[in-house]
Amino acid sequence: MARPDKDGRNILATLALPEEYRLPLEKIDLSDASLHHRNVAKDYLARLRREDPVHLCADSKFGPYWSITKFHDIMHVDMNHQLFSSAGSVVFDDNHFSGGNFENEIKKPSFIVSDPPFHTEQRRAVSPALAPGNILKLQDGIRQRARKTLDELPIGETFDWVNEVAVELTTQLLAILFDFPFEERRKLLFWSHVSVGFPGDGVVESWEHRSDALKDAGAHFLALREARRGQAGRPDLISMMANSESMRDMTGEQFVGNVFLLMVGGNDTTRNSMTASVLAMHQFPEQLARLKGDPALLASMVPEVIRWQSPVVYQRRTATADTEIRGKMIRKGDKVVMWYLSGNRDEDIYENPDDFVIDRPNPRQHLSFGFGIHRCLGNRLAEMQLRILWEEILERFSRIEVMGEPERINSNVLRGYTALPVRLHR
Ligand code: HEM
Repeated sequence: MARPDKDGRNILATLALPEEYRLPLEKIDLSDASLHHRNVAKDYLARLRREDPVHLCADSKFGPYWSITKFHDIMHVDMNHQLFSSAGSVVFDDNHFSGGNFENEIKKPSFIVSDPPFHTEQRRAVSPALAPGNILKLQDGIRQRARKTLDELPIGETFDWVNEVAVELTTQLLAILFDFPFEERRKLLFWSHVSVGFPGDGVVESWEHRSDALKDAGAHFLALREARRGQAGRPDLISMMANSESMRDMTGEQFVGNVFLLMVGGNDTTRNSMTASVLAMHQFPEQLARLKGDPALLASMVPEVIRWQSPVVYQRRTATADTEIRGKMIRKGDKVVMWYLSGNRDEDIYENPDDFVIDRPNPRQHLSFGFGIHRCLGNRLAEMQLRILWEEILERFSRIEVMGEPERINSNVLRGYTALPVRLHR
């Protein structure tokens, strides 16, 4: 006969349950990156939506936190910035960006981790650079680079889509955005990873290494800004920041902080959406057939990829006062985590939410870009990049066959891939 475990439950009966039901509710801790790495976090989130949509994890390595998992509750938190602050940190860890109190750490005051009025001023200053009119000027450059990258790929041989295409195209995008020397573009990738990295992660060797790299990056960008003073007509973001009335007087620190935010914001997120689009089309081949039959569906396919993938899994806020959500009392100072991945799979909003469906009604109704005053500034640029990539794919290939399981990022905040073996068919 099966023995009961220490909580009095039958071990065999417990093992027969799907993984997400084996723990008591209060033990569920979605800050554990391994759940995301194994791609089971979505199943735990589905359980929370059903059983405890405003869930307290009382004990995690980051301290206690609330999980908000329903679409409209997430909107409520994201839209109420007075009550739910972004100041200091929007991830679990309060100290990530302080680099372990390392004395010479470069300070990167970044408006994503701030509230009004600082946030309002900084965002207003940077947003013209990413406005539709400006990003349109970058379109031809992005297309040319995409064509070149796709034309150089092998046909009928297995290669890694992440490294050969997704990393390459997003790095090229950053080089185009900043008009950064093209041959040195992998520096941008390195700096972007260093700035969110920590010693031992495979990129950063020590806090000193990180600090030196960030200082080097800061010096490069400040030099570029000086070189571009007086060249107001250029469409790249550095020239805009060097010359536009709202941005030219930024302190060096603010300028570097904003460059980093654009670099980090636009890098992994867009890259993972590109890989997701290939995986989704492979898992739902009937959708590829529909897209080929009616390429106009690209307009709704692109936002659907971004919903389906949810490249940013969550953003965190801190309650500024006691407040209630669904009868749960959230106290001033509590961490409140908005699980975008969960809101994007909310059964009350989407039919068959786990499916990839390229003609959903209201395709832009998703949470992947957040909502409210911090809504992603690069959303149109990210969509444009994905659209161009797929226009060019459809011109060249009949199918991108996925040859094995994707390898996933080991992170609780970024949902994405480190490798995806594929083979192209003409
Ligand atoms: C903010 C997602 C691409 C720049 C954000 C936020 C999310 C997000 C979730 C926070 C929203 C909130 O707190 O309400 C994404 C996704 C992308 C993407 C999923 C790609 C599919 C980009 C690109 C850029 C960019 C290409 C720029 C080059 C920013 C900036 C912010 C931001 C500057 C801060 C906005 C603020 O705090 O006011 N993004 N992003 N993002 N994103 Fe993106």
